[in-house]
Amino acid sequence: MADITTDVLIIGTGPAGAATAALLASYGVENMLINRYRWLANTPRAHITNQRTMEVLRDLGREVEDEAYMFATQQDLMGENVFCTSLAGEEIGRLKTWGKHPLSRAEHQLSSPSHMNDLPQTFMEPLLFKTACSRGTQARMSTEYLSHKQDKSGVTTTCRDRLSGKEFTVRSKYLVGADGGNSKVAEDAKLKFEGKMGVGGSMNILFKADLSKYVAHRPSVLYWVVQPGADVGGIGMGLVRMVRPWNEWLIVWGYDINQPAPEVDEAFATKVARDLVGDPDLEIDIQSVSTWTVNNMYATTMQNGRVFCMGDATHRHPPSNGLGSNTSIQDAFNLAWKIAYVLKGAAGEGLLDSYQVERAPIARQIVTRANKSIEEFGPIFKALGLLDSIDPVKMQQNMDARCDDTPAAEEQRRRIRETIAFKVYEFDAHGVEMNQRYRSKAVFADGQREPKFERDAELHYQPTTWPGARLPHAWVFGGNGTRASTLDLCGKGRFTVFTGIGGKGWIDAAKTLSKELCIDINAHVVGPRQEWQDLTGDWANLRGVRDGGIVLTRPDQHVCWRKEAMVKDPVAALRKALKSVLAL
Ligand code: FDA
Repeated sequence: MADITTDVLIIGTGPAGAATAALLASYGVENMLINRYRWLANTPRAHITNQRTMEVLRDLGREVEDEAYMFATQQDLMGENVFCTSLAGEEIGRLKTWGKHPLSRAEHQLSSPSHMNDLPQTFMEPLLFKTACSRGTQARMSTEYLSHKQDKSGVTTTCRDRLSGKEFTVRSKYLVGADGGNSKVAEDAKLKFEGKMGVGGSMNILFKADLSKYVAHRPSVLYWVVQPGADVGGIGMGLVRMVRPWNEWLIVWGYDINQPAPEVDEAFATKVARDLVGDPDLEIDIQSVSTWTVNNMYATTMQNGRVFCMGDATHRHPPSNGLGSNTSIQDAFNLAWKIAYVLKGAAGEGLLDSYQVERAPIARQIVTRANKSIEEFGPIFKALGLLDSIDPVKMQQNMDARCDDTPAAEEQRRRIRETIAFKVYEFDAHGVEMNQRYRSKAVFADGQREPKFERDAELHYQPTTWPGARLPHAWVFGGNGTRASTLDLCGKGRFTVFTGIGGKGWIDAAKTLSKELCIDINAHVVGPRQEWQDLTGDWANLRGVRDGGIVLTRPDQHVCWRKEAMVKDPVAALRKALKSVLAL
């Protein structure tokens, strides 16, 4: 007999684990969450929070989304991405990032009801953790996962209480390993990986200093510093990252992975910080230092029977593009409802197989993207003439050459502009963040061909209701001056039917099948004098079906089926789609 029983045991209170717990608790699923440390993230780490992640928070409740904004640095202060010789030194170029460029901002605003922002992990984790615990999650800190064994009906996990040293067992129906980049759960579950760990060395230096005079006129999250050694290891260039405007900072500085990790004491850290800021007398208050390695590894399997892994446990990559915690939270959104439906008997266990089918390609995509983004700093160094010599005097001369009045200098200036502009693939890759389309049995595409991307799929989000894609956002309007995003009308643990005038048959079918399949199916009619009105015509442009057609979404807001127009037997058609998605 196990000491404790629960339905789902989650290892790790990081963004992946805490989000899973918050979602499961919101769906009414009993779950337990453990962390081997006594508290949550103690350094800011992840911070760029993209729109899709904010939509997950919004799905947890408007109060959760609003609290995130309350603690976040808003998008307007994020995007003057500076390339310079030091903060006090010469500025070489600038790139509008994270939706700061007006054209990009328009794309952001058209894509989602939620805003990108900068929310350090020290704020995100407590928010998710609090949401989970206040909704029923049983959390145990200072509790370490040691091992697990699974059988046909469940998983028995051995843990150690780190305060008493005592071991105990937890019996659960499912185990979720959200235990980070050195995941023992993934190792014990024998998940398969591709790629390599430790391809570069890096250090973080967290410090407090008022840098307003260097940055407030060009507000940004990231200030990239070109100095000798800035292309060694690390994430492509020396980085001074804003943690809180403008008095808390994190420096990311690389080291050669083929050498032992440097001893980063206070004197060393202070020197690196003063060099990058470019002020030898800067008063700084070092908060913490750490070294870490750049990884390039992703799981090709994320499940073994009743054990699932997510987050950094399955995608291990540098912070470039700011995708780590975002993808971790999105993994949770994909898996949590599936576990909830299977546990409630509303879906077959086969539904759970779709988790890795849908998320493993994303793991591969983001790991590859993040590592490629590091490489894409190389051409900037080359254009500046910094790769031709290791002599600092010669390097400076090469950089100075760009100011000459010669054809060669004009060509150098062009290359510098072009290579900096190309970094949009790291700093404004809206498509990478929003274009996730799933192809699995948990989607009933019904033979409909996937629409091709008309623009660069990494840079631009392309809305579509093709089954597998996230439901496009459009504002629709209710009575008394209210408005809601189409995303607000779905999710929250439920399937949702969208139809228009002529779609009453779908509404009735949803009612019938709610009872028959014992699941919650929400249904909305959008049209004149209906519950919701499409006054701007945006929804009609996006929905991909006619007024009497149907768009069906899953609890994670992805479209799982659509039909162009009303059919003879809507109950039979909807039943077929739902049963297929739910593996019944
Ligand atoms: P995470 O590592 O956060 O959490 C693992 C959890 O498991 C912890 O609670 C740990 O204590 C626990 N644990 C581990 N082993 C255990 C055991 N045996 N027993 C019990 N508990 C155990 N991402 C992003 O989206 N945007 C960004 O801007 C950035 N920026 C960024 C900057 C820097 C400098 C770094 C280092 C990283 C980022 N990231 C990022 C990445 C981001 O921090 C990372 O992807 C997430 O923290 C991953 O979340 P997880 O929940 O998967 O693991």
